[in-house]
Amino acid sequence: MTVELATRVLPADPATIETASACLEAGGLVAFPTETVYGLGADATQGEAVARLYAAKGRPAFNPLISHVTGLVAARKLARLDADAERLAQAFWPGPLTLVLPKQPDCPVSDLATAGLDSIALRVPAQRTARALLEAFGKPVVAPSANRSGHVSPTDAGHVLADLRGRIDLILDDGPCPVGVESTIVALLGEPTLLRPGGLPRGDIERVLVRPLRTPERAVDGDAPLAPGMLASHYAPRAKVRLNAERPHADEALLAFGPAPAFAGPVLNLSPNGDLVEAAAKLFSYLRRLDAAGVAAIAVMPVPNEGLGEAINDRLARAAAPKA
Ligand code: TXA
Ligand code: MG
Repeated sequence: MTVELATRVLPADPATIETASACLEAGGLVAFPTETVYGLGADATQGEAVARLYAAKGRPAFNPLISHVTGLVAARKLARLDADAERLAQAFWPGPLTLVLPKQPDCPVSDLATAGLDSIALRVPAQRTARALLEAFGKPVVAPSANRSGHVSPTDAGHVLADLRGRIDLILDDGPCPVGVESTIVALLGEPTLLRPGGLPRGDIERVLVRPLRTPERAVDGDAPLAPGMLASHYAPRAKVRLNAERPHADEALLAFGPAPAFAGPVLNLSPNGDLVEAAAKLFSYLRRLDAAGVAAIAVMPVPNEGLGEAINDRLARAAAPKA
């Protein structure tokens, strides 16, 4: 995780876009421009590439990521679009609008990218290099803003380099981003709801829907108000989750990390070798699988709180929190 990469900055042209696409295919991290901000891209279908992306950003938690696709046809393979979603997509894609939609059952995007949720955020960027890269790659690309966690979003290649030099493989430089703020996020999981104001004004969206967008109540997490995008974005298993378990009880399932004790019940190992990137990539799908076994509780072995371990432990702590 402390491996220094030789981050290359390449001017975007047909040849470097092919290079970038091959880099994504190989599980690499590629920063690229969109009309809103520069994104840090990884192959959405490769859990380990997504885990490396979280590590490069230094995110202390696994927020779900936006999957970027070429257009409506690609979007329909990943998510279910109701009439409102189709109308918004027709009106505003490509452009600075992200839609949160019910995930298709056979959606190939990794569970880590959607943080274990049944919903998925989709966006079709308009910027020419982003479009060319998505066309060349032919699969969904997850891309949060290409900055270190807690820093402001980058709107040119120099900002990306300043934050992520040595932590990512490649930056495609195609000049500054014309919009400069992130996309507007609308959830279409019931009544259309504005999760994040952004590059597309609310009024434009409401004119197409012919009704007002709902605004979520500000949820409160202890004393700290949650960011709108974080609402309803925690995977909660049905089973109780018991943390820092050295060994499971007879009626539990075991979510192991590193060398595991012998156990007759259901066991999944996040990483027998103790690799945090591998563990992050498997976390949400393994929680789901153990939950589906119908056990009363899932015992989770300790995970070191370093590197991606901090984000893994954040999510495990939320999964273990008493349900409201
Ligand atoms: O303009 C943009 O949207 C840029 C460019 C690169 O496309 N990307 C971006 O990504 O801003 P990021 O990761 O910084 O913001 C993604 C937001 C987060 O607030 C996350 O919680 C929310 O999208 N999100 C993603 N999937 C979600 C889901 N299934 N439900 C609710 N919120 C979701
Ligand atoms: Mg961001």
